[in-house]
Amino acid sequence: MEIKQISVIGSGAMGSGIAQVAAQNDYKVAVYDVNPVALQNAAAKLSDTLEKLQAKGKFSPEKVAQIKQNILWSNKLSEVAKGQLIIEAIVEDLSSKQLLYREIELLAPENTIFASNTSSLSIAALASVLKNPANFVGLHFFNPVPLMKLVEIIPALQTHPSLIATLQKLMQDWGKVPVLAKDTPGFIVNKVARPFYGEALRIYEEGIASFAEIDYSMKNYGGFRMGPFELMDFIGNDINYAVTESVFLAFYFDPRYKPAFAQKKMVDANWLGRKTAKGYYTYPLENEATPAILPDETKAKAIFERVLAMLINEAADTLFWQIATAEDIDTAMRYGTNYPKGLLQWANDWGIANVVSYMDNLYETYREDRYRCSPLLRKMASENKLFFQA
Ligand code: NAI
Repeated sequence: MEIKQISVIGSGAMGSGIAQVAAQNDYKVAVYDVNPVALQNAAAKLSDTLEKLQAKGKFSPEKVAQIKQNILWSNKLSEVAKGQLIIEAIVEDLSSKQLLYREIELLAPENTIFASNTSSLSIAALASVLKNPANFVGLHFFNPVPLMKLVEIIPALQTHPSLIATLQKLMQDWGKVPVLAKDTPGFIVNKVARPFYGEALRIYEEGIASFAEIDYSMKNYGGFRMGPFELMDFIGNDINYAVTESVFLAFYFDPRYKPAFAQKKMVDANWLGRKTAKGYYTYPLENEATPAILPDETKAKAIFERVLAMLINEAADTLFWQIATAEDIDTAMRYGTNYPKGLLQWANDWGIANVVSYMDNLYETYREDRYRCSPLLRKMASENKLFFQA
């Protein structure tokens, strides 16, 4: 089926971003929001963004006019019900979303495709309220949508398999990089990235290093663009903590995802990060987040290797549980989080046997299930195999 008419429900950060990308790629988009003020603000904000892009020479005045013309901001649900693909990006709440789908399915033609941009809810549970759940799929964009190329496509148990190819093609047409993920908590990126925050917090809680030392090590030794604490302050400790907690609960309390008190207390104190001018750092930052005394090479290397080993272990276990292919896991982390290298490629380069012995050392030290080595890594090391081997 060829899709030309898109609808977006929810005009917040994500919904407006999705509408912008669709309109930039010459698709007609209708955007609906239950809150008329939010809708007005979104239209004004997008207009502002497009004018800035025009001033920078990124878009011609004609292109900007065309993009604006492609978008219809509407407070009528009947208007968005006409879309061949309806992408929902409303508040992250299961019953609000389900209520909306029930309502809109009654207004929409029978073969309408419904997609949710949810980060954490079960796609099967969302689909379950539709009369035709085979037309429902997860379509997870990353913030800011116009800049982040990754899109996770998540078929539910009920999804008709033909939807996958339709959406892959559409996303490529929008210049996005689609990957396929199983309907499991956090999908790929929000699962595999957990140790970047969790292990950094653990290193801090054990008193091994300060926030700034850990950030310094990950950036200067590991080549990450931002350190974990800078990134948590950027995302917001409330949001980042909520994602960690929801993944922890959804994985039936697997200790690998256990939230950290150090972050919970930040949330309790309303030290949310940049948006409250206080988080792990105080904003505006006078300088870059640099420790007073730089960690020596041995310490920086140890911090970086511990976090990296945990990240690789998580990526390998994601493959072990068939949540996505090795290629998609690495693509997801490069395009969804801007990691300098895919984690499975990193495992190859570091040496899979080295990762295994690193994990085993952590396990020996702590005797915690959190540090169990993925069976896949162990098997590959014993068979001398590499990821992406022909
Ligand atoms: P937001 O809070 O900025 O915007 C949500 C919008 O939905 C608001 O304008 C609100 O008025 C509207 N809304 C709420 N209930 C509605 C209803 N019943 N019908 C119509 N409109 C309704 O939220 P944001 O950040 O744009 O997130 C939207 C969705 O995208 C959530 O499911 C979130 O988990 C997901 N997401 C968010 C990411 C992020 O970084 N912010 C990243 C990826 C996914």
